[in-house]
Amino acid sequence: MRQKFSLSDDVMKIVQSLSTTLGPNGKDKILIDNEGHINTTNDGATILKNIKSNTIASLILKDVCSVQDLELGDGTTTICCLIGEMLREAENLMNQNIHPHSIIEGYRISAKIVIDILRKSSFDNSFNYDIFLADLLDIAKTTLMSKFISNYCETFSRISLSVILKLKGNLNRGRINILKILGGSLKDSYLDNGILIEKSFGIGQPKKLLNARIMILNCSLDSDKIKIYGAKVKVKKLSQMAQIELSENKRLLDKCKKILNHGINVVVNRQLIYDKQERFFTDHGIISIENADFEGIEKLSLAVNSEIASSFDDIKKIKIGKADLVEEISIGSKNFVRFSGFENNGIGTIVIRGSTDEILDEAERALNDTLCVLINSLKNSRFVWGAGCCELKASRILQDISKNFDFEYSKCLNSFARALMSIPTIIAYNSDIDIKNLVKNIPLECYDLSSDSCLDLKNSKLGNARNLGIIEPLKLKIFTILSATEAVEIFIRINKIFLN
Ligand SMILES: Nc1ncnc2c1ncn2[C@@H]1O[C@H](COP(=O)(O)OP(=O)(O)OP(=O)(O)O)[C@@H](O)[C@H]1O
Ligand SMILES: [Mg+2]
Repeated sequence: MRQKFSLSDDVMKIVQSLSTTLGPNGKDKILIDNEGHINTTNDGATILKNIKSNTIASLILKDVCSVQDLELGDGTTTICCLIGEMLREAENLMNQNIHPHSIIEGYRISAKIVIDILRKSSFDNSFNYDIFLADLLDIAKTTLMSKFISNYCETFSRISLSVILKLKGNLNRGRINILKILGGSLKDSYLDNGILIEKSFGIGQPKKLLNARIMILNCSLDSDKIKIYGAKVKVKKLSQMAQIELSENKRLLDKCKKILNHGINVVVNRQLIYDKQERFFTDHGIISIENADFEGIEKLSLAVNSEIASSFDDIKKIKIGKADLVEEISIGSKNFVRFSGFENNGIGTIVIRGSTDEILDEAERALNDTLCVLINSLKNSRFVWGAGCCELKASRILQDISKNFDFEYSKCLNSFARALMSIPTIIAYNSDIDIKNLVKNIPLECYDLSSDSCLDLKNSKLGNARNLGIIEPLKLKIFTILSATEAVEIFIRINKIFLN
């Protein structure tokens, strides 16, 4: 009887459905949640997260892929396909009476050799800024090529690269703003050099202000006494009521005067600004924005270089932000307050336009992946050729090297090589190309470390990754090989599952 690892059936079910999404011509999946919301995606991490199955296999796969997604932002479908193929190959080895421990050891050796091949065949152009920028743009395009928004690959690659370069070495994804605005088409998406908050100015305030001095608050501006829950005030005469109201108003306006004393002309509050206070601000030439969302004011405070103050009593203690221009604009049917012209040349906002929420969400996911890949590429500037090139090359060289090992290990190395080859094979299959036909006449010896032979899907032939500009980060590939090998080791080691 054919031997199987205890979890392989569950793994294969998941891998089969994911493999059809791999590469530029992979198919999308529709995910429907409990409320009937539809989500169309081909993003491996999103599909995995939404697979309802709670089998051990799916939990392990979800775990491995979420680490990959978090650390590198890409490559989740590849890692799943690789795990599936390595497991299938491991079962074949077991059926040839090779012990699971030898398979694990053989796979470890293979991973080491493959990583060495990848390292030796990688390149680094960071010493030449222009070439390096061109490489980064190609990396962004390669990441976006297999996404739903691939038709606008050029637009989104340029936007992503521009925004990453604005980070100026402070490579923190959290500093990049993305704003999704329903309406228009994806091609209308752009990088705005300002920060946009979905708000309007107070009534009667000018629609534009130059040389803004901005105070950002997260403060309650109401009268503290009114807030006491359930408090009752007994009065004997109506005139006493009027007196209380007067003193409450005075308190409200006293707060505004304190704010005014800071010499600012824009106040943005996370909390409410009341009508009387708004009128006070308008009368004193101050633009007021109330109830701004927390994420928005955080990004704004970073851009204008101010703090989010929780008290405004002490003039010296509050850091006031600056922007050359604050204006009210509308995009689609929505109003925004736009801050621009920052001292430290703030990062700006990627504005995504699209005709449905699903398109906007999928575009945001693709952009997130691309930004993450670019950030990693700036941190680690060694790259490899994509479109199946490095897998094809490593697989062939590993097969060649396997001849130097004894029988059992040689088989394991060959299994690993075949599993690796499954990546270009699936990418080609999803494009209706039979890769075996393409590579059958090329002898193993022809694959050296410098080879850039890859899939040219447009022309259904082997092409050159260098000419096609298909590049991926070395770190992404190494991480994929290591994680897949470790995950397969876990699956091989499990021989019984107890539920308690
Ligand atoms: N133009 C292209 N021609 C051939 N292969 C390509 C092209 N562009 C990208 N690829 C390859 O497609 C693979 C990536 O496909 P895909 O983005 O669907 O999977 P993933 O990155 O593993 O998963 P995910 O993006 O869902 O996290 C990589 O191997 C990459 O080299
Ligand atoms: Mg990808």
